[in-house]
Amino acid sequence: MAPSTSSALTLNINGEKHTLTVDHRTTLLDALRERLDLTGTKKGCDQGQCGACTVLMDGRRAVSCLQLAVAAEGREITTIEGVADGDRLHPVQQAFLDLDGLQCGYCTPGQICSALGVIEEHAAGWPSAATTDVRPEAGVPELTAEEIRERMSGNLCRCGAYVSIVQAVAEAARAEKESA
Ligand code: FES
Ligand code: FES
Repeated sequence: MAPSTSSALTLNINGEKHTLTVDHRTTLLDALRERLDLTGTKKGCDQGQCGACTVLMDGRRAVSCLQLAVAAEGREITTIEGVADGDRLHPVQQAFLDLDGLQCGYCTPGQICSALGVIEEHAAGWPSAATTDVRPEAGVPELTAEEIRERMSGNLCRCGAYVSIVQAVAEAARAEKESA
Protein backbone atom coordinates (compact mmCIF):
# COMPACT_ATOMS: atom_id res chain seq x y z
CA MET A 1 0.00 0.00 0.00
CA ALA A 2 1.35 3.40 -0.94
CA PRO A 3 2.18 5.59 2.06
CA SER A 4 -0.38 8.28 2.78
CA THR A 5 0.69 11.78 1.81
CA SER A 6 -1.80 13.55 4.06
CA SER A 7 -2.63 13.64 7.76
CA ALA A 8 -5.38 14.87 10.02
CA LEU A 9 -4.11 17.41 12.51
CA THR A 10 -5.41 19.87 15.06
CA LEU A 11 -4.04 23.39 15.09
CA ASN A 12 -4.46 25.70 18.05
CA ILE A 13 -4.97 29.15 16.54
CA ASN A 14 -5.90 32.23 18.53
CA GLY A 15 -7.09 29.98 21.35
CA GLU A 16 -9.36 27.87 19.14
CA LYS A 17 -8.76 24.34 17.95
CA HIS A 18 -9.13 23.60 14.24
CA THR A 19 -9.04 20.05 12.93
CA LEU A 20 -8.23 19.53 9.26
CA THR A 21 -6.61 17.07 6.90
CA VAL A 22 -3.68 18.43 4.95
CA ASP A 23 -1.16 17.21 2.43
CA HIS A 24 2.15 16.89 4.28
CA ARG A 25 3.70 19.56 2.05
CA THR A 26 1.14 22.21 3.05
CA THR A 27 2.72 25.21 4.69
CA LEU A 28 1.21 26.76 7.78
CA LEU A 29 0.61 29.91 5.71
CA ASP A 30 -1.44 28.02 3.10
CA ALA A 31 -3.33 26.12 5.80
CA LEU A 32 -4.25 29.42 7.47
CA ARG A 33 -5.27 31.21 4.31
CA GLU A 34 -6.60 28.50 2.01
CA ARG A 35 -8.08 26.03 4.47
CA LEU A 36 -9.11 28.06 7.50
CA ASP A 37 -9.99 31.33 5.81
CA LEU A 38 -7.67 33.26 8.12
CA THR A 39 -6.55 35.59 5.37
CA GLY A 40 -5.17 38.31 7.64
CA THR A 41 -1.77 36.63 7.36
CA LYS A 42 -0.37 37.68 4.00
CA LYS A 43 1.69 35.88 1.38
CA GLY A 44 4.44 38.06 -0.04
CA CYS A 45 7.49 36.16 -1.26
CA ASP A 46 6.58 32.63 -0.04
CA GLN A 47 10.34 32.18 0.53
CA GLY A 48 10.98 33.48 4.03
CA GLN A 49 12.33 36.82 2.86
CA CYS A 50 9.65 39.47 3.34
CA GLY A 51 8.00 38.78 6.71
CA ALA A 52 4.45 39.39 5.39
CA CYS A 53 3.39 35.97 6.70
CA THR A 54 4.76 36.43 10.23
CA VAL A 55 2.71 34.84 13.02
CA LEU A 56 3.56 34.03 16.61
CA MET A 57 4.23 30.43 17.59
CA ASP A 58 4.36 29.94 21.35
CA GLY A 59 4.84 33.71 21.55
CA ARG A 60 7.83 33.83 19.23
CA ARG A 61 7.92 35.15 15.69
CA ALA A 62 7.80 32.67 12.84
CA VAL A 63 7.44 33.11 9.09
CA SER A 64 4.52 30.82 8.37
CA CYS A 65 5.56 30.23 4.74
CA LEU A 66 8.57 28.28 6.03
CA GLN A 67 6.63 26.17 8.54
CA LEU A 68 4.87 22.97 7.63
CA ALA A 69 1.32 22.83 8.97
CA VAL A 70 1.96 19.31 10.31
CA ALA A 71 4.88 20.65 12.36
CA ALA A 72 2.68 23.33 13.92
CA GLU A 73 0.50 20.84 15.77
CA GLY A 74 0.71 21.34 19.52
CA ARG A 75 1.97 24.92 19.21
CA GLU A 76 0.02 28.02 20.27
CA ILE A 77 -0.36 30.02 17.08
CA THR A 78 -1.38 33.67 17.09
CA THR A 79 -2.35 35.37 13.86
CA ILE A 80 -3.37 38.98 13.34
CA GLU A 81 -7.01 37.90 13.82
CA GLY A 82 -6.18 37.01 17.43
CA VAL A 83 -4.31 40.16 18.42
CA ALA A 84 -7.15 42.52 19.35
CA ASP A 85 -9.20 42.05 22.49
CA GLY A 86 -12.69 41.92 20.97
CA ASP A 87 -13.36 45.41 19.64
CA ARG A 88 -10.41 46.86 21.54
CA LEU A 89 -7.29 47.11 19.44
CA HIS A 90 -4.02 45.91 20.88
CA PRO A 91 -1.69 48.84 21.79
CA VAL A 92 0.58 47.86 18.90
CA GLN A 93 -2.33 48.03 16.44
CA GLN A 94 -3.44 51.33 17.93
CA ALA A 95 0.05 52.80 17.61
CA PHE A 96 0.26 51.75 13.94
CA LEU A 97 -3.07 53.47 13.36
CA ASP A 98 -2.28 56.61 15.33
CA LEU A 99 1.14 57.09 13.78
CA ASP A 100 0.32 56.05 10.19
CA GLY A 101 2.57 53.01 10.31
CA LEU A 102 1.06 51.79 7.05
CA GLN A 103 0.12 52.83 3.56
CA CYS A 104 -1.41 49.99 1.54
CA GLY A 105 -1.44 47.83 4.69
CA TYR A 106 -0.40 44.59 2.98
CA CYS A 107 2.66 44.12 5.16
CA THR A 108 0.92 45.36 8.31
CA PRO A 109 -0.32 42.06 9.83
CA GLY A 110 3.22 40.67 9.62
CA GLN A 111 4.70 43.91 10.94
CA ILE A 112 2.33 43.90 13.90
CA CYS A 113 2.93 40.24 14.78
CA SER A 114 6.64 40.88 14.46
CA ALA A 115 6.42 44.00 16.64
CA LEU A 116 4.67 41.95 19.34
CA GLY A 117 7.56 39.50 19.25
CA VAL A 118 10.14 42.31 19.25
CA ILE A 119 8.64 44.01 22.28
CA GLU A 120 8.56 40.75 24.21
CA GLU A 121 12.07 39.71 23.17
CA HIS A 122 13.42 43.12 24.11
CA ALA A 123 11.64 43.18 27.48
CA ALA A 124 13.11 39.74 28.21
CA GLY A 125 16.58 41.23 27.64
CA TRP A 126 17.46 39.53 24.39
CA PRO A 127 20.23 41.39 22.57
CA SER A 128 20.10 42.12 18.84
CA ALA A 129 22.87 42.65 16.28
CA ALA A 130 22.52 46.37 17.06
CA THR A 131 23.12 45.93 20.80
CA THR A 132 26.48 47.43 21.66
CA ASP A 133 26.91 45.95 25.13
CA VAL A 134 25.77 42.33 25.26
CA ARG A 135 27.20 41.52 28.69
CA PRO A 136 24.43 40.14 30.94
CA GLU A 137 25.27 42.79 33.55
CA ALA A 138 24.53 45.54 31.01
CA GLY A 139 20.82 44.68 31.39
CA VAL A 140 18.06 45.34 28.88
CA PRO A 141 19.33 47.63 26.10
CA GLU A 142 17.41 50.80 25.40
CA LEU A 143 14.89 50.25 22.58
CA THR A 144 16.38 52.88 20.30
CA ALA A 145 15.30 53.46 16.70
CA GLU A 146 18.39 51.54 15.62
CA GLU A 147 17.42 48.59 17.83
CA ILE A 148 13.87 48.63 16.44
CA ARG A 149 15.11 48.80 12.83
CA GLU A 150 17.45 45.87 13.39
CA ARG A 151 14.88 43.78 15.23
CA MET A 152 12.19 44.48 12.59
CA SER A 153 14.55 44.01 9.65
CA GLY A 154 12.95 40.72 8.61
CA ASN A 155 9.78 42.61 7.66
CA LEU A 156 9.83 44.45 4.36
CA CYS A 157 7.36 47.20 3.49
CA ARG A 158 7.01 47.94 -0.23
CA CYS A 159 5.33 51.26 0.56
CA GLY A 160 8.33 52.34 2.60
CA ALA A 161 6.34 53.30 5.71
CA TYR A 162 9.40 52.49 7.79
CA VAL A 163 9.77 55.80 9.61
CA SER A 164 6.27 55.60 11.06
CA ILE A 165 6.57 51.85 11.69
CA VAL A 166 9.64 52.49 13.87
CA GLN A 167 7.77 55.24 15.70
CA ALA A 168 4.74 53.00 16.20
CA VAL A 169 6.82 50.15 17.65
CA ALA A 170 8.60 52.60 19.98
CA GLU A 171 5.29 54.08 21.10
CA ALA A 172 3.68 50.67 21.67
CA ALA A 173 6.69 49.46 23.65
CA ARG A 174 6.54 52.61 25.78
CA ALA A 175 2.79 52.24 26.36
CA GLU A 176 3.15 48.56 27.30
CA LYS A 177 5.97 49.32 29.72
CA GLU A 178 3.90 52.03 31.39
CA SER A 179 0.86 49.79 31.78
CA ALA A 180 2.91 46.86 33.13
S1 FES B 1 5.63 35.24 2.53
FE1 FES B 1 6.69 34.36 4.18
S2 FES B 1 8.45 35.59 4.39
FE2 FES B 1 7.51 36.34 2.59
S1 FES C 1 2.16 49.47 3.91
FE1 FES C 1 2.22 48.79 1.86
S2 FES C 1 3.66 47.19 1.91
FE2 FES C 1 3.81 48.08 3.85
